[in-house]
Amino acid sequence: MNFEHNGINLAYTVRGSGLPILLVHAFPLSGAMWTAQVHMLESHYQVIVPDLRGFGQSSVPTTPSTMPIMADDLYALLTHLRLQKVVVVGLSMGGYIAFELLRHYPRMVHALVLADTRATADTPEAQAARETNAQIAETQGPAAIAELMLPRLLAPDANPEVVAQVREMILATAPAGIAAALRGMAVRADATELLPYIRVPTLLIGGEQDVLTPPTVMQELQNAIDGSSLTLVPRAGHLPNLEQAEVFNTALLKFLHRI
Ligand code: MLT
Repeated sequence: MNFEHNGINLAYTVRGSGLPILLVHAFPLSGAMWTAQVHMLESHYQVIVPDLRGFGQSSVPTTPSTMPIMADDLYALLTHLRLQKVVVVGLSMGGYIAFELLRHYPRMVHALVLADTRATADTPEAQAARETNAQIAETQGPAAIAELMLPRLLAPDANPEVVAQVREMILATAPAGIAAALRGMAVRADATELLPYIRVPTLLIGGEQDVLTPPTVMQELQNAIDGSSLTLVPRAGHLPNLEQAEVFNTALLKFLHRI
């Protein structure tokens, strides 16, 4: 399905019925990364899976995809669907966007699942690297980004099918969508000061072999968010929902049953 907001056509799918769960994907992927979770959830819950602007089937913006803009896209989509409260599940960039939903639309967040993400902003070095990568995307296309990112996204012994699936998602992404999100992530606000105010049930999930947001980062989030719990997924890197879908799903389902 499609929804037009601020000149951007947002593609999304809605499956099942029950407590609504919003699945917010990572960079530079699409809603397709949640396929295994949708299969598990749709018999008990309503699952909403957007392609963020610039990714999947959504249209590509001409300005940076900042985290507040992408959170606003999702708020508009949820309003369009007449949903007042959802469980927000965000992985990596999806987590950055979840923090903006909490900052701007706290009443919309019923519970929170933050996977392989961080609350801190980019350092100047990280910002410079993002600009370099944005220019690589613009001049060399998504294949160059796939080669740069794949070794860091997945554990060294990742299932070749998962590697192929992630590569395919990156290759299908428009260079301008990649560049817009990189420039948006580079200017994201630090969300650390929000953490002590999070009062909704919160589950943290991380890959034990994640080199981008290592277990120590997830542990820091757990220490800062009152009452949160942390599941570390063995034999998974930055994308445990794909690399070890069953372990990820079990942790998610257990949390959803509890809330
Ligand atoms: C992601 O998986 O969404 C990215 O690694 C986030 C980032 O580049 O900070």
